[in-house]
Amino acid sequence: MNSHTTVHGKHGDYAIEAKQLVKRFKSGKAWVEVLKGVDFDARHGDLTMVMGPSGSGKSTLIAALSGLLRPEEGRVDALDVDDLWKLSTGRIDKFRLDHCGFIFQGFNLFPALTALQQVQTVLKYQGLTPEQAKRRATQALEEVGLGHRLNQRPAELSGGEKQRVAIARALAKDPKILFADEPTSALDGENGQVVIKLLRRAATEHGAAVICVTHDPRLEAWADRVIHIEDGKIIDDQRRVPNPEATLASH
Ligand SMILES: Nc1ncnc2c1ncn2[C@@H]1O[C@H](COP(=O)(O)OP(=O)(O)OP(=O)(O)O)[C@@H](O)[C@H]1O
Ligand SMILES: [Mg+2]
Repeated sequence: MNSHTTVHGKHGDYAIEAKQLVKRFKSGKAWVEVLKGVDFDARHGDLTMVMGPSGSGKSTLIAALSGLLRPEEGRVDALDVDDLWKLSTGRIDKFRLDHCGFIFQGFNLFPALTALQQVQTVLKYQGLTPEQAKRRATQALEEVGLGHRLNQRPAELSGGEKQRVAIARALAKDPKILFADEPTSALDGENGQVVIKLLRRAATEHGAAVICVTHDPRLEAWADRVIHIEDGKIIDDQRRVPNPEATLASH
């Protein structure tokens, strides 16, 4: 499967194009500008990394791009939608449910659910029958190497396994846009590699636009593009040829 050959939305290769995003938070009586007019885009099939110091606005940017946090200024065009933030809240939520996957540092799993149920639940919201959801969820968990952990709950899984469940949950619906915020920071080197390979595969094999915030310099070798953000502004944006062997050889 290679969706580079499939027809994308009306924005062509771009899954997301954002212009002049401004986000302000109120701090006491003053407003603090956390995104200072950010232009951002991401393409289908690319693993786009966003790096930068703590507090520079990376998570805020992800939230503004994905319809989670309304920016004060600017616009986000995503897939077939012109100006996501002009839609009603319900339609923004629907857009996210239909097209976006999320992976966070803290896994965000439900303690009471087994690995299989975590993934199945999301698919049921998308209108799959219970049988279809079970089949697809099993497949997604097998794809991340957890076919033997289907019935375990988060407390019975390692950190790396929990993150793989979260990835299976995000990938099961074959999202066109995948947002990852520090997906490897709670993991050791080996589990971090597993996670980044899965993100790479989501971009290359499924054609997803993968947008990954990270502090982890080892991940850079896997990226098609590395964007640096500092103090609410993009200060550097480099396209590169992924060269994962470079990191593998040095480990
Ligand atoms: N809800 C909020 N209210 C007020 N200020 C906020 C809020 N969310 C974030 N901020 C501020 O915005 C700035 C950017 O935060 P953000 O979480 O985007 O940073 P980050 O680059 O993701 O940092 P980290 O690498 O530590 O996760 C920080 O100074 C933070 O304190
Ligand atoms: Mg953050």
